[in-house]
Amino acid sequence: MSTQKTGTIAVFGATGQQGGAVVDALLDHKARVRALVRDPQSDRARTLAARGVELATVRADDPASLATALAAVEGFYFMTPEANSLEEVEAEIRIGTALVDAAAEAGVPHVVFNSVFGADRESGVPHHDSKHAIEQHLRKSGLRASMVRATAFMENFTNVMAPSLEQGEIVLRLPLPNDVPLKMISVRDIGRVAAALLLDTAQAPGGAVELVGDELTGPQIAAAFGAHAGLPARYEVLPLSVLPTDLDRVMFREFAKAAEYPTDSAVVCSIEPATLDLAEWIRASGWTAPTNVAGS
Ligand SMILES: NC(=O)c1ccc[n+]([C@@H]2O[C@H](COP(=O)([O-])OP(=O)(O)OC[C@H]3O[C@@H](n4cnc5c(N)ncnc54)[C@H](OP(=O)(O)O)[C@@H]3O)[C@@H](O)[C@H]2O)c1
Repeated sequence: MSTQKTGTIAVFGATGQQGGAVVDALLDHKARVRALVRDPQSDRARTLAARGVELATVRADDPASLATALAAVEGFYFMTPEANSLEEVEAEIRIGTALVDAAAEAGVPHVVFNSVFGADRESGVPHHDSKHAIEQHLRKSGLRASMVRATAFMENFTNVMAPSLEQGEIVLRLPLPNDVPLKMISVRDIGRVAAALLLDTAQAPGGAVELVGDELTGPQIAAAFGAHAGLPARYEVLPLSVLPTDLDRVMFREFAKAAEYPTDSAVVCSIEPATLDLAEWIRASGWTAPTNVAGS
């Protein structure tokens, strides 16, 4: 992939997981990057600056700050922050809408929105329907727009979905039926695909790319971790009630309908040929089996 654009690409969310991966990929291609940050003194913002990223201080509810930050940029990437309540969903829509409006006002030539798998429709999942609403707003803005629709991050297996080691066996527990495949992507590849679109070295067919690097059932995921660790592995289905929020419960209920929404990983691979499947991500991430849980 060669960089075709030479102007500045603005990135909202650059201090976070996905935006950070977009910055990594853009810098790999020697692109000029301006990060829109809340706090230019934060450790993560300073780290970006040390890597040559220009910082623009913004507040999503301050159009003047956004106008300054988006002046004369060639492309704009944005994601929206995690929402764990209906109030936060409303805030997410406000932020996304403000960013789209600011990009339209500034006449940004190309906007890439980091949405979510399924945001092409209303699904009843509040923090997915919020992204659907932002996608709709972006499409109506008249801007040239591309959506990258992320599925579950493989990185979740290092925290909220981490397998455990119990009596010499890898154990994965998720609130997902045994036979339902989970669609997933590495954060690195979200960044690489978004960067390719921003740099115009690839296009999103129909204006959107569904980001899937692998699709595996719970038992298959457990087996992948077990194979890497050289240990036996098992999967257990958890009840939805273990999830911390209503939003997550509705989301996992939607995940269980995976068969209704097939995906085409070939599109992702055509943009990023080195897209990681789970086994490759396990190796690349340096994942190692956790320590035995107490008492086992
Ligand atoms: N986890 C998954 O498997 C998954 C899958 C698909 C989609 N998603 C979606 O991905 C999104 C989260 O992405 P992520 O994990 O990359 O986020 P993240 O790592 O939590 O980063 C959030 C970024 O947003 C910035 N931010 C947060 N609130 C802000 C505000 N009010 N004004 C300005 N900047 C703000 C943060 O900046 P600061 O440094 O200032 O805090 C940070 O750069 C959510 O919308 C979630 O629904 C998640």
